[in-house]
Amino acid sequence: MKKTKKVKDYYNKWTKKYLDSGYGNIIQAHRPADVEKLLDYIAEKSGIKNGIKILDAGCGVCGPAIYFAQKFDVNITAITISEKQVEISKKNIEEAGLYNKIEVKLADFHKLSEYFEKESFDLIIMLESYGHSTCPTKVFEGIEFTLKKEGHVYVKDYFKKQITGSYKRRKAMKRVINNMNKIYAYNLPSLENTIKRIRKTDLELEYITRNQLPLQNEDSVLSFEKIHGIDLFEGGFHYQILEPLELYFKKLSDIDAPIK
Ligand SMILES: C[S@@+](CC[C@H](N)C(=O)[O-])C[C@H]1O[C@@H](n2cnc3c(N)ncnc32)[C@H](O)[C@@H]1O
Repeated sequence: MKKTKKVKDYYNKWTKKYLDSGYGNIIQAHRPADVEKLLDYIAEKSGIKNGIKILDAGCGVCGPAIYFAQKFDVNITAITISEKQVEISKKNIEEAGLYNKIEVKLADFHKLSEYFEKESFDLIIMLESYGHSTCPTKVFEGIEFTLKKEGHVYVKDYFKKQITGSYKRRKAMKRVINNMNKIYAYNLPSLENTIKRIRKTDLELEYITRNQLPLQNEDSVLSFEKIHGIDLFEGGFHYQILEPLELYFKKLSDIDAPIK
């Protein structure tokens, strides 16, 4: 897919800059100042516990995977679309001595059923990676296939708000959304479309919530944007175009079972 290649090229070029200017090993924009608080929160909200098999779909340089593998007795398969990230992840995993708990692979999360056996994972996490998807239908079909029955998927990401208000505001909101998609190789999802796609699979809603953590991004996102001359708002109003959401779905155990 042409658009997926854009994301690959983007991360091959920009990963080093994320690591060196603001983000460190955790490439997530919606975060509190203390990144360990973010990861503990994600572990709790996604139900990470000892003994499970996790797929981290869009793993960055395995910052989150390494943290979870240090805290829990889990087995993690981590995938990214970027060769550069695979290379850095391998080094990070080796340095952390976690090669027996984390395996990193170059893979596209739109094609999960091509890489993994049916019902392989207890939990699939997507930490600010889903927003890069160019075809949510394929993502959720793959998730449904590779999740074990009663397994869960946890998505943490920004979703675009409904474009409303005066002509001037609608125009500005569209501009900011376009800027964000262009600058970050994103494809800001809408919650409504995402839910529609998920409803076509055997995934059942457990919760949708706004991320409860405070946004303290001065030393990460804002500093990164300053260093690289990024201004989504083009010096204008900071229209609230994004909602930081968490989605949690469970794969049904047996939807076709006869009623007794
Ligand atoms: C914003 S970064 C988040 C990285 C990581 N989850 C973290 O918290 O540090 C987005 C990640 O999604 C990955 N990604 C984007 N599109 C992908 C695709 N089609 N298949 C696999 N990974 C993808 C990127 O390679 C990158 O690792």
